[in-house]
Amino acid sequence: MNSKRDFISIDDFSNEEIEVLFVIADKMNLLLHRSHGVLAGHLMGSLFLEPSTRTRLSFEAAMNRLGGRVITMSDAAASSFSKGESLADSVRIVSSYTDILVLRHPHAGAARLAAEYAPVPVINAGDGGHEHPTQTLCDLYALRQTKGKLDGLRVIIYGDLKYGRTTHSLALALARFGTDVLCIAEPGLNLPAYVRNRLTAMEGISEHSLVVADENSVFSGEEREALLYTKNPQGWQLNDNALKLAGIAFDAIYVTRLQRERLAQDDAELGQALPPIDARFLSHASFQDAVVLHPLPRVDEIDHEIDGDPRSFYFRQAALGVPVRMALISFLLGHEMMRVERAPKRDEREWKKASCANPNCVMTKEGDYLQQKIWKDPQERVHCVFCDEMLD
Ligand code: NCD
Repeated sequence: MNSKRDFISIDDFSNEEIEVLFVIADKMNLLLHRSHGVLAGHLMGSLFLEPSTRTRLSFEAAMNRLGGRVITMSDAAASSFSKGESLADSVRIVSSYTDILVLRHPHAGAARLAAEYAPVPVINAGDGGHEHPTQTLCDLYALRQTKGKLDGLRVIIYGDLKYGRTTHSLALALARFGTDVLCIAEPGLNLPAYVRNRLTAMEGISEHSLVVADENSVFSGEEREALLYTKNPQGWQLNDNALKLAGIAFDAIYVTRLQRERLAQDDAELGQALPPIDARFLSHASFQDAVVLHPLPRVDEIDHEIDGDPRSFYFRQAALGVPVRMALISFLLGHEMMRVERAPKRDEREWKKASCANPNCVMTKEGDYLQQKIWKDPQERVHCVFCDEMLD
């Protein structure tokens, strides 16, 4: 077995590793415009089977700025996928041409599968509605730049939290760093059960299902259901599970668009209820010092009128994708070391009982050649190793 590292889930890096990675990213930021060629002779394969602007181009910019080269495939219809080639076979081939692979794929767990078949490091650039861990690195790095730390903050995650893969990886990371997370979702689009379970499996974290009372009409006079993840519920002055925004200061609001392309038939009517983030919204005292983050693309959930507001950080957040991804690629290719504690490995086992019931899981989609595997959480619950959904 080789000892390659992949980056498939945000859980693959410990907090200490993420912090070291950010120190490397700080260094990369300074080197950005100098040609230093540390990765000259290395080739990155970039496979994007879903639309992308920022993620693909910032990965490719990062590799180019490091002196490496890139081969790219961004049109599945023009590849052998359209002839029925399995993901495993495609990955075997592309990884035999390259030194590192970046994969975006419509199916949950696709990057985990790719990592099993590729002898080179694999980076998950988004797998269906499941996870998007490199976006989370950019989000955390942006928070660290604006707030100077990642612990003890109060962050709202806002929008489509069911299908928005960036929100899953981010909520898990923030909770792990000791930041309180208030999830305000479009009705019917809050965090999926497997993410909620991973959050509450963390030591000291409790989940509070609450109603956000809206005295100052942030939500146009309506009450909003929300989920709060915190180690310190006392700090929120909850009253019968009602949360009054007045008196609470937030450090950031992370806004996401409705993931229309992933909505199930039954969900087609969802996603029109939350107000956009605009000047009126930000004028509420709770958001006086709150930075506005968004993985982008934005559709209509952030009004253009606040683009010039000093709290609006989303464009700079996107720009930070290059140094962050330079740091990640350099580390995975062995050009940067991290002598800190690694993330614990999951308890993975083979599983013969049932296959995954998630219709969008790569296990379900790729079919027979895959051996179902599971991992067990500290509560002994059994999860699909690819998409993390719970199995009975
Ligand atoms: C996100 C994604 O692809 O999940 N975009 C990105 O990578 N910056 C968010 C989105 O598409 O809404």
